[in-house]
Amino acid sequence: MTQAVEAAASRAVPSGAAVRLDGVSKAFGSLPALDDVSLRVEPGEFVCLLGASGCGKSTLLNLVAALDRPSAGTIDTAGRRVALMFQEPALFPWLTVTANIELALKTRGVPRAERRARSAELLASVHLAGFEKKRPHQLSGGMRQRVALARALALTIDTEGTGTLLLMDEPFGALDAMTRDLLHDELERIWRERNLSVLFVTHNVREAVRLGDRVVLLSSRPGRVVEEFPVPMDRPRRIDSTEVAALAATITDRLREEVGRHGA
Ligand SMILES: Nc1ncnc2c1ncn2[C@@H]1O[C@H](COP(=O)(O)OP(=O)(O)O)[C@@H](O)[C@H]1O
Ligand SMILES: [Mg+2]
Repeated sequence: MTQAVEAAASRAVPSGAAVRLDGVSKAFGSLPALDDVSLRVEPGEFVCLLGASGCGKSTLLNLVAALDRPSAGTIDTAGRRVALMFQEPALFPWLTVTANIELALKTRGVPRAERRARSAELLASVHLAGFEKKRPHQLSGGMRQRVALARALALTIDTEGTGTLLLMDEPFGALDAMTRDLLHDELERIWRERNLSVLFVTHNVREAVRLGDRVVLLSSRPGRVVEEFPVPMDRPRRIDSTEVAALAATITDRLREEVGRHGA
């Protein structure tokens, strides 16, 4: 699809929240993982969901992606397409890097003739030009994660004008700091260009402040929304800037209080 058509399609995005959770709880047997979580992500908003490990972040994303059902409450994505990037790069091992991306483009209705160029563009944006013909096992963990990012971004191409919600589950946790910074920049660029709505899960406080319009703090066992922090700094932000560090310190204190309270 041409960029003009894509722009026209994105104008047809439905109104209302990109995703809205009302009173969502989830239990696994007798273990409560999430308790009465209410949360909205507005169209075009970048929300970071922050919490200690085991507090239910992946559970929440899986519910939003409709991979699992809540025990109580409702989740409404207003008919939007959902693109999900997992903690582990979920690539098809028998397909080349390019074929993995092209398959994602195909599922989003990108015509065959455009797929090669689109996939090359996406791979260049994650600094993987030259690795098109490799298979996942021939790449380092960090490179595989970059392919997974390119694939998730391919899944945000909106040929139907429904709008896309991008869900990311600690996507950069395993990367070295330099690669992670590069990918933050790329993700931010594409988020703005495509006006994506993003729900980004992390346990890294600085990363949440670097990327989010808003940081939503989850408590541990079971996960509940404890507090929300708007992030007022201009973009692009540097993860090592004093402003990012200062807000991250405030949020970390609040997180510690919460972890202390629950004895996690
Ligand atoms: N499919 C499942 N079956 C049973 N327990 C689960 C399942 N998925 C997650 N849990 C439990 O729910 C809690 C939250 O897990 P998870 O959402 O993965 O946390 P996080 O992503 O924040 O680290 C943990 O105690 C975990 O063991
Ligand atoms: Mg998780």
